[in-house]
Amino acid sequence: MADKVVLAYSGGLDTSVAIRWLKEKYKLDVIALNVDVGNERDSSAIRQKALDIGAVKALVEDAKELFVNYFIFPALQADALYEGQYPLATALARPLMAKLLVDAAIKEGASVVAHGCTGKGNDQVRFEVGITALAPSLKIIAPAREWGMTREESIAYAQKYGIPVPVTAESPYSVDENLWGRSIECGVLEDPWTEPPEEVFSWTRSPKDAPEEPCYVEIGFEKGIPISLDGRETDGVALIQELNKVAGEHGVGRIDHVENRLIGIKSREIYEAPAATTLLVAHKALEAMTLTKDQLRFKEKVASEYADLMYNGLWFTALHRDIAAYVESTQRYVTGTVRVKLLKGNASVVGRKSPKSLYSFRLATYDKGDEFDQSASLGFIHIWGLPVKTQAQIQGWRSLGLPVGTQAQIEGAEQTEDSLAEDKE
Ligand code: ARG
Repeated sequence: MADKVVLAYSGGLDTSVAIRWLKEKYKLDVIALNVDVGNERDSSAIRQKALDIGAVKALVEDAKELFVNYFIFPALQADALYEGQYPLATALARPLMAKLLVDAAIKEGASVVAHGCTGKGNDQVRFEVGITALAPSLKIIAPAREWGMTREESIAYAQKYGIPVPVTAESPYSVDENLWGRSIECGVLEDPWTEPPEEVFSWTRSPKDAPEEPCYVEIGFEKGIPISLDGRETDGVALIQELNKVAGEHGVGRIDHVENRLIGIKSREIYEAPAATTLLVAHKALEAMTLTKDQLRFKEKVASEYADLMYNGLWFTALHRDIAAYVESTQRYVTGTVRVKLLKGNASVVGRKSPKSLYSFRLATYDKGDEFDQSASLGFIHIWGLPVKTQAQIQGWRSLGLPVGTQAQIEGAEQTEDSLAEDKE
């Protein structure tokens, strides 16, 4: 009996070709595993396609809820954006797929797992580091990294073996999508000077064709997790799906990013992430109300660490666990409602409220009811400015970093331009 391999199967050209290729080259029985992370495809058609191509078994796993609760929402709580731009849709889905691949391999008694990633991207790293962390003894095969076929050659291979080549395979773009966003690469996008043609977008309307009238959404959060839309309690998956629709209608969430891949190259990536973009701005706005300045400053640093960890395939690590515990702790009071205005490609926060808000009207107001003791500022400024004053007095105007030529206006400046010129020599 042939050994078994569980293949992460998307239904696309590469993984379809891989079913046949694994059989030919390694004489393995292929079990195709399709993980549904919200890519809006027809699961039963994908299953049937895998079987038609020659898989001995085809599994479909609906992982949308797992994905939202254990991957997307923690990343939202962390405010994770890779290099300040990419909400990490593809990156977050990979460790989940790695976990489900390992589970299936154990259940099916397979000693090998396979994925469709090439040798140039981040996804191979995320899959393999994840798989190795969970099941070090599993053998991993990456057909698309091994076979050395160009896209044309893969299409020819598919045609030779009667593997259906979808019309979309003629599209020059490589697309990956899930609930948190859509990633688009290749084709004309590889020229960073070329504006992305309208055809690469499918979740977002062009801002120029978006409605002239804004749409307002009210997002309710509890401990940093979105739980309602416009006052209606909504479960995570539905909430994200709905936001992808409305925000996408208004052209929100297009991202054009030249990013640094883990394997050392820069690549130009286009993303569509209407729900992620909207939720991330809303969540940050609520944090601005409920966390102190110091908490916010520190959390920002953690956010970039967190994003790097996710991007770099280090989900299954103790450092991730530690950082996740910190993030969760910060969310204790991040409860409230944020009002977002969606208009012509922008998601702007126009209102926020929280029962645990640190914003105090009585302290902030310039009107009647002001309780801020303005006379106390005098002493505060005296002490705050003390080291500055001391340094200026003892070390002179140069220690203040003044532009050359302005020192003469400083009272007590003890050096002239001439003596500065001498110093320079
Ligand atoms: N550059 C992004 C990342 O590394 C997106 C990758 C898209 N993957 C794909 N197979 N098209 O997360």
